[in-house]
Amino acid sequence: MTDRYIVVLDEGTTSTRAILYAPDGTVIATKGRELDQHYPEPGRVEHDAVQIWQRTLACARAVIERAGGADRIAAIGITNQRETVVAWDRRTGQPIHRAIVWQDRRTADFCETLRGAGHETEVQRRTGLLLDPYFSGTKMRWLLDNVPEARALGDNLALGTIESWLVWNLTSGGEGQGGGLHISDASNASRTLLFPLVGNGWDAGLADLIGVPLSALPEVTDTHGQFGYTHPDLFGAAIPICGLVGDQQSATIGQGCLSPGETKATFGTGAFILTNMGQNVPASSNRLLGTILHQSGGERHFALEGSVFVAGSLIQWLRDGLGLLQSSAESEQLARSVADNGGVTLVPALTGLGAPHWRPDARGSISGLTLGAGKAHIVRAALESMAHQCHDLMQAFAADGAGWDRLRIDGGMSANNWMAQDLADVLKLPVERPTDVETTALGAAMCAAVGVGLYPSLAEASACMRPETDGFAPAMADAARDVRLAAWRLALTKVMA
Ligand code: G3P
Repeated sequence: MTDRYIVVLDEGTTSTRAILYAPDGTVIATKGRELDQHYPEPGRVEHDAVQIWQRTLACARAVIERAGGADRIAAIGITNQRETVVAWDRRTGQPIHRAIVWQDRRTADFCETLRGAGHETEVQRRTGLLLDPYFSGTKMRWLLDNVPEARALGDNLALGTIESWLVWNLTSGGEGQGGGLHISDASNASRTLLFPLVGNGWDAGLADLIGVPLSALPEVTDTHGQFGYTHPDLFGAAIPICGLVGDQQSATIGQGCLSPGETKATFGTGAFILTNMGQNVPASSNRLLGTILHQSGGERHFALEGSVFVAGSLIQWLRDGLGLLQSSAESEQLARSVADNGGVTLVPALTGLGAPHWRPDARGSISGLTLGAGKAHIVRAALESMAHQCHDLMQAFAADGAGWDRLRIDGGMSANNWMAQDLADVLKLPVERPTDVETTALGAAMCAAVGVGLYPSLAEASACMRPETDGFAPAMADAARDVRLAAWRLALTKVMA
């Protein structure tokens, strides 16, 4: 075993972080920076791609310095917010527009047109995805139609998701440099609408349907392997890039959900539940997604996914938008300060509803308010909405033949003990939580460790690198659960009316 470290670049929706891992999974150092969120119009969400790169680079430099320099780093792994699209000029490395973020709903009408023309069944059969503005393909098409430079660039146009953008910069030497490596991994490619779950690459028919030129797309790689080296000018020596994986697939790996049926829920900006389907290609009849979990030597493992668009962002909105909380952590204390929700139900459709409803037009609601309702009831109702959404997904997974016998949770919001217990209660399932809830980054560390040859397989990396877990057992009376779920269903029906 080496005494060198793994660096993970974890580029999420609200922040970018670099984490330095020892080969046994111990976190040695972490450096993070917030990312500016741009909301140019209702329903639109953008990021500054150059800021993402610069802040990621600064964080990477800080932890590499902490390790004692680039020679002390065995490999880099990258995990990222998925579906977010960057368009840039291959000659200059300059983006031609702000990144369009996964939460952005601007292509809802185009998706509706494609659905109206009867394309959804075939798109779902081939890609595992639905025609929703969430996915990358229609965002790419929007850039082509709305940014004159995009078409004018011709073959010099590069499109990619965030891992592509970071690898380009890491290998070209950064800002304003052409000639980087233009790659994406299979787990991220499987979120574009352009990459079939089964097959050898981008699909010309799907690219034609969505209207994206194949020449602009990256080469697709495995999730773990040796993909390229960082430019020596960036860190003082070239470091191999050995792991690339979308953040939700990464968290699934980091949770050790490596066998069919094992399920995790990550509570980050959104909440994403993935069940490992092994080598069976997922085909949902209940509005869930099929996605590539990981790929090695071209061999794919799949997951069934339920994507909830609003989780941590709800608590952030309660704190920053409404001023109901001083800190996110205060939500736990407030939820405990009242005996129940006081009749308040919150539907967190702040960026539409994802799985299993897929209603980009839905908007959030707080209902059941009385003069007796205080901020603690509203905050409690917000936390309760996490369990309600997971409950709907649990039923959809079971109907698809992928029932859960326990749920492994992670992500920043999972640190909330009240919410973890409420999940166990409402789902009537044991809930397990690792002592370090940052499993997204750990999954990418595992991929990079396998990719560089420190471990022969993800299973062996998992056995050595994963932390201990805590458990939460269901304890709620059935009658109380039924009342909660009935109120939730009523409120949901109203926002979808
Ligand atoms: O699909 C969107 C997802 O990748 C965003 O993840 O961690 O920012 O909630 P996160």
